Amino acid sequence: MRRPLIAGNWKMNLGLGDSVRLAEALRTGLGSVPDRDVAIFPGFVSVAAVARAVDGSPIKTGGQDCASELDGAFTGAVSATMLKSTSASMVILGHSERRHVFGEGDAVHAKKLQRALDAGLLPILCVGETQAERDSGATSAVVLRQLQAFLDAVPTLAFPKLTLAYEPVWAIGTGRTASVEQAAEVHALLRRAFRERAGAVAEDARILYGGSVKSSNIAALMAAPDIDGALVGGASLQADEFLRIIHFQRN
Ligand code: 13P
Repeated sequence: MRRPLIAGNWKMNLGLGDSVRLAEALRTGLGSVPDRDVAIFPGFVSVAAVARAVDGSPIKTGGQDCASELDGAFTGAVSATMLKSTSASMVILGHSERRHVFGEGDAVHAKKLQRALDAGLLPILCVGETQAERDSGATSAVVLRQLQAFLDAVPTLAFPKLTLAYEPVWAIGTGRTASVEQAAEVHALLRRAFRERAGAVAEDARILYGGSVKSSNIAALMAAPDIDGALVGGASLQADEFLRIIHFQRN
């Protein structure tokens, strides 16, 4: 049985004070969660303070991205080792906003993955198709290409460290959640592809769903056999709503 991971991606929201207050509210409201993992991903400027605010609690902290280069003259970029130095333990890579807003492709994300693992960060690797790709029947080809690019970048020894996330681009921030059937189909496809490369390791790998997850739809999504958690955007910015998602009741 895979242990669910509920992750909150705060994106480019909340300053330092609000980030720490949200982290403290989550810490206070969390209580005991013996059967699930929780992680939050604040903006870079708040990662260190948020990591301190949740230190000693079950909540893990991570960055929303990291640089593809080790260090040097890359103004504005944050390296994996810099992120790790803040006590962050995780990083989101390949998010659709990095792919489609910032124009970063598979190759740069493959390098970021190597940097993240070298720095000792546990990555969440995002894949997902656009509406146009879904409409043209390209969903499988797109998500498999994105997954292979990540897997080709690392030795098989690193496979147990990987968490995958399926985030259909058309469901992000739109209020349009993928149906449970649509999500389950892609999750099963990703697990099959990962199994072909990783064997039994794929059975323990968590595959999160992301895209308009709320407290009202989390339980239905989590009932699908290959959905092992959620990567939550907008609904993770409100402590009460995110806590309801974390504490979802199994159907
Ligand atoms: P929303 O939950 O706001 O749709 O965002 C999903 C997401 O992109 C999480 O990484």
